[in-house]
Amino acid sequence: MPKNDRLIKACQQQPVDRPPVWLMRQAGRYMSEYRAVRAQTPFLELCKTPKLAAEVTLQPYEHFGMDAVIIFSDILIPIEAMGMGLELSERGPVLHNPVRNAERLADIRVADPYQDTPFVLEVIQEVKKLIKDEVPVIGFAGAPWTMASYMVEGGTTKNFIELKRLRFAEPQLLHTLLEKITETVAKYLAAQLETGADLVQLFDTWAGELSRDDYRIFAKPYIQQIVKHIRTVSDRPIILYTNGCASILEDMIETGVDCVSVDWRIDLAEAKRRVAGRTAIQGNIDPCALLAPADELTKIVQSNIDKFGGDPGLIVNLGHGILPPTPPASVRVFVDAVKNYQKK
Ligand code: CP3
Repeated sequence: MPKNDRLIKACQQQPVDRPPVWLMRQAGRYMSEYRAVRAQTPFLELCKTPKLAAEVTLQPYEHFGMDAVIIFSDILIPIEAMGMGLELSERGPVLHNPVRNAERLADIRVADPYQDTPFVLEVIQEVKKLIKDEVPVIGFAGAPWTMASYMVEGGTTKNFIELKRLRFAEPQLLHTLLEKITETVAKYLAAQLETGADLVQLFDTWAGELSRDDYRIFAKPYIQQIVKHIRTVSDRPIILYTNGCASILEDMIETGVDCVSVDWRIDLAEAKRRVAGRTAIQGNIDPCALLAPADELTKIVQSNIDKFGGDPGLIVNLGHGILPPTPPASVRVFVDAVKNYQKK
C-alpha cells in the first residue's frame, strides 16, 4: 500500500484527513518540462520508451504534489496493437483505414498486453521504482464505446456519424468490434494491475453521446465484462469516467466500479444524492476554471468540497482532461486549495 493512500481510501469510501486530488491528463503540454521532452521525441515514441514515459509521468507529481500519478500513455495504444496504423498529426490522432465493414473488422485482432504492448507494463515498473510507493500509480485504458469511436471514425469527431451509422445500420458488426475491444481492454487492465498499478481508470469519454437505452446495449454490458474480468485477478479500485454522464449515472454505478468520475454539467451535490453511497465520486470541476484568477479558482475548489458535505468518498479532479493553455500556476492553486481546505 502506498504511504499516501488517500486515493485508495477515498475509492473505498473510507475516511481520510482531506480528499485526495489529481487531475486527468495531468502530464502534458501545459508543462514546459513536458514540451521540452516532446521537442526531442515524437509522441508515440515517448509512449513506447519506458524511461522517458516514466519521467513524464512523474513531472506533475514532482511539481505540484498530487495524491497520485497516472502512467503516461494513451487510450489509442491498444488500438494500434489491435492492428490499426496510428499517427498523431497536428490536428490530433489519425487511425488508418477505419473499421466500417466486415472485411476490415476481420483484420482487427484481440491484443495481448504482454506480447503486443509490453512497454506499457514497463512504464508501470519504472514508475513504481521511481515513486518508491509514495503515492498510488494509476493505470488506465479507454472503454469499449470510446475506443470504437476512434476505430470507426479514424480520429476525433464532433458528430460520430460513422460510428452511429454502424450502430443504426449494422449493429451486429459494431457488437463484434466491441467484443474484440472488450477482451483486449480486460486483459490490458488486468496486466497493468498484475504489474503493480495500484488502481485503474476506464476512460469512456464519449459514452455521453449515447441515449440511455443505447448506453445499456453498447456500453454498459461491455464495461461490466471488463470489471468482472479484473475482479478475477485483483480487488484494487476501478474508476469509470464519462464526459456528459448526467443521464447515465445510475447505469455507470451498476457496472460494478468503485468510483464514478463525473463532469461539471451535473451538480456535485445532485450526483452525490443519486449515487447514494454506492460508489465514490471523482470530479467535477470545469477544466476552464483553471483559467480563473487564483482567488476565484480557490473558491471554486472549496465549493466543490463543500458540496460533498464532508462525507468519505470524494476525489477532487476535473470533469475532463486539463487543457493545453492552462497556466501551470493554476494547477498549483488547484492542488493547494484541496490541501489547505478548512471545513466551514
Ligand atoms: O497525464 C495523463 O493523464 C496521462 C496520459 C494520457 C494521455 N492521453 C496523453 C496524451 C491519458 C490518460 C490520455 C487519455 C486519452 N487519450 C483520452 C481520454 C481522456 C480524454 O481526455 O478524453 C482520449 C480521448 C485520448 C485520445 C487522444 N490522445 C487525443 C484525442 C489526442 C489529441 C488531442 C490532445 O489532447 O492532444 C491525444 C494525444 C495525447 N495524449 C497527448 C497527450 C499528452 C498530446 C500529444 C502531444 O504531446 O502532442
